[in-house]
Amino acid sequence: MTYKALIFGVDDIFNELQPFYDEQVKRGNLEIVAYAVFDDDIVQLFDAEQRGGVLDNTPEFHLAIISSHKNFYRRMKLLEAQNLPRKKIIDGRALKIPDLDFKRLVDEGIAYGSLNKKLFQDMTHALCPRILSDGTSTVEIGSKSYLVSAAIEGSGRVSVGKFCSVAKGALFNMWPTVDHNYRNVSSYALTRIDWDVPEKFFLPNGTRQINIGNDVWIGRGCVFKATTSDKPLVIGDGAVIASDSVIVKNVPPYAIVGGNPSKIIKFRFAEDVIEAFLRIKWWNWSLDKIHDNFRYFNDIDKFISIHDV
Ligand SMILES: CC(C)(COP(=O)(O)OP(=O)(O)OC[C@H]1O[C@@H](n2cnc3c(N)ncnc32)[C@H](O)[C@@H]1OP(=O)(O)O)[C@@H](O)C(=O)NCCC(=O)NCCS
Repeated sequence: MTYKALIFGVDDIFNELQPFYDEQVKRGNLEIVAYAVFDDDIVQLFDAEQRGGVLDNTPEFHLAIISSHKNFYRRMKLLEAQNLPRKKIIDGRALKIPDLDFKRLVDEGIAYGSLNKKLFQDMTHALCPRILSDGTSTVEIGSKSYLVSAAIEGSGRVSVGKFCSVAKGALFNMWPTVDHNYRNVSSYALTRIDWDVPEKFFLPNGTRQINIGNDVWIGRGCVFKATTSDKPLVIGDGAVIASDSVIVKNVPPYAIVGGNPSKIIKFRFAEDVIEAFLRIKWWNWSLDKIHDNFRYFNDIDKFISIHDV
């Protein structure tokens, strides 16, 4: 199906996003019926062909795509005020995902795309969740989280919660130790021996998994050593990982950890504050609720007194 779309916000990051819109047009997924700008709170529509000609009538469309960082929220609210359901409003930043499945983005609100394990990033800052996969490894990225540049070695599953900031050079080490059984006479890689090796020489295999919570800040150059999916490596909500750290054990919520192997340096807040934040779980609120309460984000006592009820 070709979705007819109005492209909103011909400023801000429009130039950056335009090639991704063009790509969807080329693939036959998208037809741009008009471009739109907000003039104060009035929407002005421009002809898709000439861009200069103002349109009197709104053409028929299925979707409105917003191209904006800092004005995204305001524009979304303006569109909603014009009776456009939120499901019809697409975050244009999600179109940057490589090999995006556009239909699933429209139908499910999730940006499915391909994963380059050697060097991947998701700097979209998109509101919608993203799921990147190459068939053997999958990275799930929650609303608004971003990774500057990361790599996966080995295979498995990495999940990143909402509102996480992952600085440059994160490495997710998913290597199983299956063929290096150092409890045998030799730790040599058994798959490289020139004859069949009985199963019992190998260690049990298992899918590797790393679960990163919400509101986690990861400094540059951190390495995460995965454990198996029945016992994933878990980085708790609100944690901070100091730069150049090697994480081999679970990190408790709101801990600041660092070093190799990383140890707890301190906690971000006192225990009662952490407990309150873990009850409140603001990252699960709607964007509207976060927006309306943002004024309290630098006033912890007030924030807790209002929300920890
Ligand atoms: C973790 C971090 C936030 C702590 O900042 P801070 O609260 O100002 O902490 P301090 O510098 O006072 O250090 C506190 C302790 O942590 C230790 N520490 C700091 N950074 C560390 C690191 N990367 N690894 C191990 N220990 C570290 C300090 O040595 C100090 O130890 P001490 O209490 O025994 O003296 C900061 O060090 C950090 O790593 N920030 C990430 C920066 C980054 O990578 N940004 C990328 C772009 S977003």
